[in-house]
Amino acid sequence: MNSNPVLTALRQRNSAPKLDAPAPDETQLDQMLRCALRSPDHGRLRPWRFVSFRASARDELGQLLESSLLRSNPQADEAARAKARSAPRRAPLVVAVMARISEHPKVPAWEQQLSAGCAAFALELAAEALGYAAIWRTGSFCEDAELVKALGGAGEDRIVAFLYFGTPACNLKPVPDLDPDDFHERWDAVADS
Ligand SMILES: Cc1cc2nc3c(=O)[nH]c(=O)nc-3n(C[C@H](O)[C@H](O)[C@H](O)COP(=O)(O)O)c2cc1C
Repeated sequence: MNSNPVLTALRQRNSAPKLDAPAPDETQLDQMLRCALRSPDHGRLRPWRFVSFRASARDELGQLLESSLLRSNPQADEAARAKARSAPRRAPLVVAVMARISEHPKVPAWEQQLSAGCAAFALELAAEALGYAAIWRTGSFCEDAELVKALGGAGEDRIVAFLYFGTPACNLKPVPDLDPDDFHERWDAVADS
């Protein structure tokens, strides 16, 4: 197996569900964002937007998540409300990644959402390259237009990720050893045989 460090980093990427300080600092987050901004982007629409939350700003996000929960389920009990409210406290840095959708004759919304997803993945990979860990979370909040608006989005914009960043506070799981052949069909081999 080739030991190129980029390939190794891609093969070994591993999410960490429990995260503690330290998290990437502002300079490192800037580096990570520069990586995200190189995500594939049909039509150069730059269909992404990032909102980062640290320290007590995470509680402002928590309030927004609780309000979102209550919009989708007005009967939510205190335990569910507290879970939503405290969710951003699960890591020292949270970044909401939004797909900023524009009307374009050749680039439908789903392509722009995929670009924003690539940007989210790039942020995860860049964080790992800097020695941190991450996990990508979503939930019903992502379907909530009011929350999108509260985070500065509009129209068809969509939250594609809440990325949690920090230093693992748990043992990382073994990276699954999946077999590419289970997911890959070789049409060229069929044609040449
Ligand atoms: C679009 C998307 C949404 C996700 N939402 C959640 C989520 O809400 N909660 C969660 O525990 N994991 C979620 N995950 C999965 C984790 O980020 C992670 O992939 C999973 O824990 C498996 O770990 P691994 O990626 O290291 O194999 C989501 C992944 C993606 C791509």
